[in-house]
Amino acid sequence: MYARIRPLLFALGPEQAHFVASTGARIAQNVAPSVLERMFAFAHPALSVQILGLTFTSPVGLAAGFDKNARLVPFFRMAGAGFTEVGSVTAQRSPGNRRPRLFRIPEDEALVNRMGLGNHGAERIAPRLKRLAHRPAFPMGVNIAKTHSPDILGERALADFASTYRRVANHASYITLNVSCPNTAEGKTFEDPATLDILLQHMDLLMTERRREGASRTPPLLVKLSPPEREQFVLDSLYDEILAVCAEHRVDGFVATNTLPHEQGGLSGPPLAARSTSLVRYLYTKTGGVKPIIGVGGIDSAEAAYERLAAGASLVQLYTGLVYHGPGLIKSIKQGLVRLAEEEGHSSISHVTGSRA
Ligand SMILES: Cc1cc2nc3c(=O)[nH]c(=O)nc-3n(C[C@H](O)[C@H](O)[C@H](O)COP(=O)(O)O)c2cc1C
Repeated sequence: MYARIRPLLFALGPEQAHFVASTGARIAQNVAPSVLERMFAFAHPALSVQILGLTFTSPVGLAAGFDKNARLVPFFRMAGAGFTEVGSVTAQRSPGNRRPRLFRIPEDEALVNRMGLGNHGAERIAPRLKRLAHRPAFPMGVNIAKTHSPDILGERALADFASTYRRVANHASYITLNVSCPNTAEGKTFEDPATLDILLQHMDLLMTERRREGASRTPPLLVKLSPPEREQFVLDSLYDEILAVCAEHRVDGFVATNTLPHEQGGLSGPPLAARSTSLVRYLYTKTGGVKPIIGVGGIDSAEAAYERLAAGASLVQLYTGLVYHGPGLIKSIKQGLVRLAEEEGHSSISHVTGSRA
């Protein structure tokens, strides 16, 4: 069906198309949930994954940025995703960068964006998360970032992250720290190891504060990294330093990767795949496979998803692939993963993780 809708969407600008598709998805999730569920139905026990203290009915989820304001969580559950990642949510509401800020590269099935972390802000999004958070069978991660403003630096930046964390932590299955957005207002990220160290120290304090306040659970903390500059990298001291910092603090896993810096924006889609895969493989090998990795970047087929799992990911996420192939991609990847796992003699998809790391 998406093959018929896509030309209409692609006749619009990329951001208008996202708006139209999201509005359609919101209407469908409200008026025709059973139609959606039937259309996208595919479940298989081999797809179940248990990590981070959570159960995922499948390893295929939605990447951050698609549903920044927590409006489409039911749609992606009905479309058969195993989990979703809302956000990036920031402390203050932000309109993001000036348009145009999203571009298609159809010949590569890629996108370039400099959206600039626009979202409704943690205060408005948190009550939506609270209403959505009661579905243990559908984990909902929340991706948090610093408010998009060059004035929020140093101590203010830490307080900004903390304010978002306090608002959303109760409702998140896991939290992802987006420290790698390539198009921040101040033109730098939190990935520099010394800066990341300070941020993670602050997160440690927040988690201790939660426990002291008697919170029933503290969501696992993941760090989202940017892709390596080169496709084939073996050893990179920057990532070694980042890993050492993460190991010192309570980081439970990684999301690899964010978009690749490209002409004042971030490149996503298949051109990113080799870099993302090589970082997943590196992280898996360096950590001895004990820290779960969510693989994201250019996954647009069951083969690509399987390769990412085999390199060391426990779960995968999609964004650009959904733009080019539609939500049916989730089901076709799940079906393909079951087939590919069977062909290689794995009774469960979780056995594929790291099998070719
Ligand atoms: C338009 C757009 C907006 C995005 N916004 C965010 C965001 O707010 N936070 C984030 O962590 N990643 C964001 N991402 C990055 C995606 O989550 C993902 O890491 C990246 O696009 C690579 O996956 P893909 O090739 O499947 O698109 C965004 C990506 C795109 C294309």
